[in-house]
Amino acid sequence: MSNRDDNFLRENNARHQLHPMIHPLISSEHPPQIIVKGQGYHVTDIDGKTYVDGIGGLWNVNVGHNRPEVKAAIIEQMDEICYYSNFAGTTTAPSIKLSAKVIEMSAQENMAKVLFSANGSDAVETALKLSRQYWKLEGHPDRTGFISLKHGYHGIQFGGTSVNGSSYYRHAYGPLMPGCYQVDSPWTYRNPYSEDPEELTDAIITQIDRLIAHNGAHTIAAFIAEPVQGAGGVIVPPAGFWPRLRALLDKHEILLISDEVVTGFGRSGSMFGARGWGVKPDIMCLAKGITSGYIPLGATVLNERVMNAWTKGVDPMGFIMHGYTATGHALGCAAAIAALDIVEKEDLPANAAAMGGRLMQGLEDLPNWSSLVGEVRGKGLMVGVDMVADKGTREPIDPGKGQGEMIAAFAREEGVIVRPAGSNIIMSPPLTIDVDGIDKIIDGLTKAFRKYEEVK
Ligand SMILES: Cc1ncc(COP(=O)(O)O)c(C=O)c1O
Repeated sequence: MSNRDDNFLRENNARHQLHPMIHPLISSEHPPQIIVKGQGYHVTDIDGKTYVDGIGGLWNVNVGHNRPEVKAAIIEQMDEICYYSNFAGTTTAPSIKLSAKVIEMSAQENMAKVLFSANGSDAVETALKLSRQYWKLEGHPDRTGFISLKHGYHGIQFGGTSVNGSSYYRHAYGPLMPGCYQVDSPWTYRNPYSEDPEELTDAIITQIDRLIAHNGAHTIAAFIAEPVQGAGGVIVPPAGFWPRLRALLDKHEILLISDEVVTGFGRSGSMFGARGWGVKPDIMCLAKGITSGYIPLGATVLNERVMNAWTKGVDPMGFIMHGYTATGHALGCAAAIAALDIVEKEDLPANAAAMGGRLMQGLEDLPNWSSLVGEVRGKGLMVGVDMVADKGTREPIDPGKGQGEMIAAFAREEGVIVRPAGSNIIMSPPLTIDVDGIDKIIDGLTKAFRKYEEVK
């Protein structure tokens, strides 16, 4: 029997909490839905209505809600010790075991060491700082700049915000870090160059090459990108883009940071997003799926090339003067080991590829009859519906007009949670979802767009 005080929760919803990514006045007027239970790929709200969780929490509950294996691992660790420091002199068993597991899982990428943190934003911040440190150790202290893609999302710390590719996340928080440059996204649906994937790839690679030439490769530490751009609108680059990018960066000896916070551990249909493109990054940022959201945890993984800079002797420049109280948190690491066991045992990357294909296929007709939908796109279980004000020019809808929220509300009436983000509806269900769950999302979202046609 729950002793939850529903009246208290309803009355106090959005009264004392600030919610990310919304104006406080809007969230006071439209308080968030209160989710109280989860089971598999379903969640239940405070009114007792159960939904298909079409967004997997926030792209992260990959093994599904309420998995006994993950809960048991957390409880078992709580019985031993919940927390002890991972700074210089001490560590705990789960962080040792998880570091071995992450390195084993990323052996194909020649990864060598991992530094844990608490969130994806921390994992990005760690990657940016350690890539600068790498170049200082290598005797190139001027290599401090970063290049990233427009529409990229890399979390919300100052470093991540500085390399973020959407001004929306940046304008209230400047001045940001100097020496961060954004280039056009390899986005076939919306770009000024070409719809042909190879021509587009050529155009973007040329742009990056020119930017590097203009600033001098000796000023650039790293290029950071998501293998599939998530929050920016589920932008899937042409298949040749990442290999061409890797080759270009190799030519200039620039590090490649793959921000795998969403794509890591299966979401885009391969264990890591960059692996799906046949590319080995130098640094990977991981979070979300590492624990499936049961406990917050981030991880930054460095390959042998990067770690070699630290093997030449004890240089004062080489001390890792970076890390968090939560680095290697025992409960987070215990949860991650159990969650990753499930990812491997149930081959969730393969299920993501199969179920993502079914979801895309089920929605592919939307642009043919919905006045709002310009394109449906995705890879694995990252699927986006792009909404346009004008199908001819592909001008995105104005998110301020609330059409995305309206579609999401109609979908909720049909028992499906989807996420309106900018001019897109984003879907990222648990990777454990089955045919029945996918078909419910297809049906719910289709009905939502039909209803929009009736009431618009
Ligand atoms: C690609 C990417 N990087 C970094 C982050 C930041 O992660 P967190 O919200 O855990 O700090 C996110 C969050 O959605 C993300 O999508």
